[in-house]
Amino acid sequence: MTNPSASAWDRAAEGWSRSTPIVHAWLQPSTAAMLAEARLAPGARVLDLAAGAGDQTMDIARAVGPSGEVLATDLSPRILGFARERLLAAGLANVRFAVGDAEQPLATTAGFNAVMCRLGLMFCTNPAAAVAQAFDALRPGGRFVALVFGEVAKNPCITIMMKVARKHRGLPGSADPYAAGGLFSLAEPGRLAELLKASGFADVESTPVAAPFSLPDAAAYVAFVRDSGSPIMEVLAPLDESARQLAWQEIEESLRAFGGDEGWVGPNELLLASGTRPA
Ligand SMILES: C[S@@+](CC[C@H](N)C(=O)[O-])C[C@H]1O[C@@H](n2cnc3c(N)ncnc32)[C@H](O)[C@@H]1O
Repeated sequence: MTNPSASAWDRAAEGWSRSTPIVHAWLQPSTAAMLAEARLAPGARVLDLAAGAGDQTMDIARAVGPSGEVLATDLSPRILGFARERLLAAGLANVRFAVGDAEQPLATTAGFNAVMCRLGLMFCTNPAAAVAQAFDALRPGGRFVALVFGEVAKNPCITIMMKVARKHRGLPGSADPYAAGGLFSLAEPGRLAELLKASGFADVESTPVAAPFSLPDAAAYVAFVRDSGSPIMEVLAPLDESARQLAWQEIEESLRAFGGDEGWVGPNELLLASGTRPA
């Protein structure tokens, strides 16, 4: 059965791919921390789940080198097409691509040294299934590393945007931020670590990682959000064009509070979780 978010991500694919320079700068330190946690050596085989437009795939492919191999999978064929183009343009030939739902078994040989997932696991409606599949895809001693959105209170820009968007839609003030498949679905303290332990992972660790957005101004952040398939877009989608513009205008005005002499810095906290499949 096709996961309905595949078409949503197909629609967002071009924008997310275009935003790669912003995403790269935003997530560079967190991606480096992921790579360190995965303990990759040249020659390693890595499964990159929910690979998107391939930004982190590129870092993984370089870390494992020409003798290593990366399998990049994603729900959206379109976004994976952008990843394929990006890796090809970079001359990295050690990556294969496969459309696939992280919650479903792989249609290929498992035995990976590491399974990595950057900002994808929280979108899974059944993250326990995705973690269990990651466990099965690893060889004994292999590492699972996932980066997800952290605590709601540490990500105020998203809360502000959602609040303003819901007001413009005439929806009640707040939805359940921890709803399955949403941005904060794995943000509750301890939740992701529990999922990993329940699947059989050992050495489970879960660490908050500061990932502030540094951009010239609030307008640049709003432009990124509008281009990148954010859940805010879905809330505003039913409005007509002029009503939507008014909502974005108020969102931008509210976010100017994070501007200062050094430009605009939006606070953001992610959660880096890891575990080992026992030998
Ligand atoms: C925010 S993007 C992150 C992409 C990339 N990992 C990055 O960090 O740039 C989220 C990605 O998760 C993918 N995704 C969402 N649900 C998924 C699922 N159940 N299985 C596989 N991929 C999924 C989307 O198609 C999208 O490419």
